[in-house]
Amino acid sequence: MAKKKKLKKKVIYIFVTILTLLCLGSLFGIKTYQEYKYKQSYEYKLIEHGYSLENAKRLLKYYKKDEEIEKLLSIPRNDSILSLIEQKYYIHNNLERYLAYMDKNKTMDLKDVITMVNVNRDYEYYEHEIPADVNKENLLIVNKYYKLSDDFEPKNLVTISNKYAYDNNQITEEANDAYISMWNAANEDGYKLIVNSSYRNYQDQEDVYDSIKQSKGSSQADKVAARPGHSEHQSGLAIDVFEINNQLTGTFKDSPAYQWLQDNAYLYGYIERYPENKEDITGYSFESWHWRYVGKEVAKIIHDEDITYDEYYAYYIENQA
Ligand code: DAL
Ligand code: ZN
Repeated sequence: MAKKKKLKKKVIYIFVTILTLLCLGSLFGIKTYQEYKYKQSYEYKLIEHGYSLENAKRLLKYYKKDEEIEKLLSIPRNDSILSLIEQKYYIHNNLERYLAYMDKNKTMDLKDVITMVNVNRDYEYYEHEIPADVNKENLLIVNKYYKLSDDFEPKNLVTISNKYAYDNNQITEEANDAYISMWNAANEDGYKLIVNSSYRNYQDQEDVYDSIKQSKGSSQADKVAARPGHSEHQSGLAIDVFEINNQLTGTFKDSPAYQWLQDNAYLYGYIERYPENKEDITGYSFESWHWRYVGKEVAKIIHDEDITYDEYYAYYIENQA
């Protein structure tokens, strides 16, 4: 009887021992597995790459896609990235260019670094040519980087009626309709708008540019006129607009009609294309008379956010394509 009891005790002892070993084993297994899994995680990889735990977590809050995090891991650790991603117009594809630009412009505000790189200013003017995407229609961009082909002609060009423009001014039909609505609204407020230049084909633009170049030299010409293929006037979406009593490029900026355009043009789909103090962004001197049709929705965003079309295009169109 005592022997049986002893045996039973032994069996229980063995059973409990095995159970304990099994439990410990699986706990160890789970822990090892968890460690293995953590080492596969991006948080671990970013820490291994040199980021602090806190910064790794901040980066992962921002970067969700595998390819974005892989890109971070492919470039040397740089804590400036943490500040860059907090900027409103940050574009992930431009990350390496931001870092290179910051390196060359050490005292520049991050906000400006973002702007300059977004609008391609890390490339020399006219040395980084991109074909303008004419399929974007009202939203196509033309500037010192984006170029129209020499044979590009906008569809649906119409002649602006003499009531609103000097002779032989053409823009697209939609831009013309919008301009007439704007003209009527301005007229009701006491301003008679007048267009003195609008669509110019490649050859016309070449003539404009060459004549300024001849009289003032190429560096001055490049501030005020686009080289052929690079003018928004070739898109049929731009107008040079004045007011009947204020038709001088030198003084239109001080006229109430210009103020009226600044306050109201976006309601009709027009934006100021070369604003004052944005010369570094647009590449051109301030032109109070040059207005560009983009449609009401986009014009409102540009107006409300106080950005140029170059910035809008980079962030809202290319980046989100
Ligand atoms: N004046 C503007 C920049 C043009 O020539 O297109
Ligand atoms: Zn113009």
